[in-house]
Amino acid sequence: MRVLPIAVLSLFFLHFVDGYKILVFSSKFSHSHANFLGQIADTLVDAGHNVTTVLAEMDPHVRDGTEKSNKIHMEADPSVKALHEDPEIQKKVNFFESNVANPIGPLIIGPMFAYTFYYNCKKLMDEPGLIGRLRDEQFHVIIAENFEFCGVGISKAIAPKALIGVASTTVFGLQHDEWGVPTAESYRPTSIVSSLDVHSFSSRLFNYYGSLVDRIMFWFPRWAINRALKEKFGPDYPTVGEISANVAYVFTNAEPLIEAAAPTTSRVIDIGGIGAKQSKPLDEYWEGILTLRPKTILISFGTIAKSMYMPQEMKTGLIKAIARFPDVTFIWKYEEPEDEFGKGEAATAPNLILSKWMPQVDILAHPNLAAFITHGGMGSLHETAIRGVPGIFIPLFADQPRNAGVMEFNGFGRVYDKNDLPHVDKLTKTIEDVLNNETYRQNAKRISAMLARKPFTARELLIKHVEFAAEFGASAALRPQSLDMNFIEYNNLDIIACGLIVSAIFAYISTKFLMCTVRKMARVVKQKKE
Ligand SMILES: *[C@@H]1O[C@H](CO)[C@@H](O)[C@H](O)[C@H]1NC(C)=O
Ligand SMILES: *[C@@H]1O[C@H](CO)[C@@H](O)[C@H](O)[C@H]1NC(C)=O
Repeated sequence: MRVLPIAVLSLFFLHFVDGYKILVFSSKFSHSHANFLGQIADTLVDAGHNVTTVLAEMDPHVRDGTEKSNKIHMEADPSVKALHEDPEIQKKVNFFESNVANPIGPLIIGPMFAYTFYYNCKKLMDEPGLIGRLRDEQFHVIIAENFEFCGVGISKAIAPKALIGVASTTVFGLQHDEWGVPTAESYRPTSIVSSLDVHSFSSRLFNYYGSLVDRIMFWFPRWAINRALKEKFGPDYPTVGEISANVAYVFTNAEPLIEAAAPTTSRVIDIGGIGAKQSKPLDEYWEGILTLRPKTILISFGTIAKSMYMPQEMKTGLIKAIARFPDVTFIWKYEEPEDEFGKGEAATAPNLILSKWMPQVDILAHPNLAAFITHGGMGSLHETAIRGVPGIFIPLFADQPRNAGVMEFNGFGRVYDKNDLPHVDKLTKTIEDVLNNETYRQNAKRISAMLARKPFTARELLIKHVEFAAEFGASAALRPQSLDMNFIEYNNLDIIACGLIVSAIFAYISTKFLMCTVRKMARVVKQKKE
């Protein structure tokens, strides 16, 4: 009687000791994407698996993101590398001034992505022996993002037991169609929308437009990668969409407790916040700064948009507003504290400290931190929520408007338009509101406590789903049939059309009949009168 459980147990143990062979594909497109994929890789290493990460360099400034997995470095295509290193192009793209709703934007960025993703993926596929070597490894699972698509695209040729898709943000644009997740544009905020009012016609219209923008922008690179795949592996090779339809799971960087609820499927596993680091006590220098005044506000616009390139009138607006809060210390992440602005205008506010670098996670955990003024990148969002800090969210580009909007929706604070940065009175009022209205802090603390006690941690969800996929591959039951339907079938347009035709015929016959009866009755009445 004892034998069976022990046999089962040792079998389990054998599996665990061996670990599974996992390939993570990271394109090093930007810090946030590389960090999310790197955290996935490192978490799986910690769980005892043999993880290899292909680091397909795109932007040479981006870190690896993974520290613990085996790495295969692939250099960027020279033309892609040159694009990322050209200071003129880097300076031209000013995220503080760009307009995310500009309809021309996706028509410029889309083809640019198509160009860089295509040449980078081609270079990788042409690397002598690489694909064959990866196929021979017989990976159990490949984890790749549906963003630059190369990893997803080549996965079919590497033939793992299971493919797991990734969204380093939330599911957006054409990813909905690829994975069979309903778009629900009427109430799921899209990337460019920071204030979706579901009862307002114009707000829903703008959201619908946002959905189109997301789709159009990433249509170009999908088309380009599909072409590259067919050029390499032949015309019968499946498209990114066809490959993605059969994923075992999808990992997103979303955390439902700080989102706006919308339909999803059982294949989509939200592991947002998996990259969040434990906070440590501050060192003497930073502790000194955080205790200079009773309250501190942290300002950071992330790593991509550099504060030093912020237009002058926006900088001045911030400085003037900061000067109106002499009892609050402001710390601003600023790349060149010794530049003209740093030594001049910024120095006129005694309660402002510019710093190239700061222990952001540890500062957010400090009791004197009263608010976080942030661009609303995914990483900052999770850190804000985990520490329970109220915020002012000033979105700049990409999915930041949406992120900022859901934070306001969940009561963390206020969205603030970057174009209003020069308006000192408005900015001052918003800062006062977030400092003095206790509602924000209470909401933030409550959600922070909920996150700390979630029934299943992001780590557990990640490891268990990867192990499950490694053992069983993808389950056909989890694959929505919507993936095989055309537009007419999916929207029941044929049934609606049929219903309309039947109603029209019925209405026609009833009208005829009614008119006939009326005429008959009129005749009878007339005859009686005569
Ligand atoms: C992990 O996988 C690599 C590649 O297949 C292999 O060379 C290495 O020996 C494996 N490591 C362990 C600890 O099994
Ligand atoms: C505080 O903020 C909440 C949420 O925005 C709002 O409903 C409430 O009226 C505010 N309270 C005060 C005193 O302004």
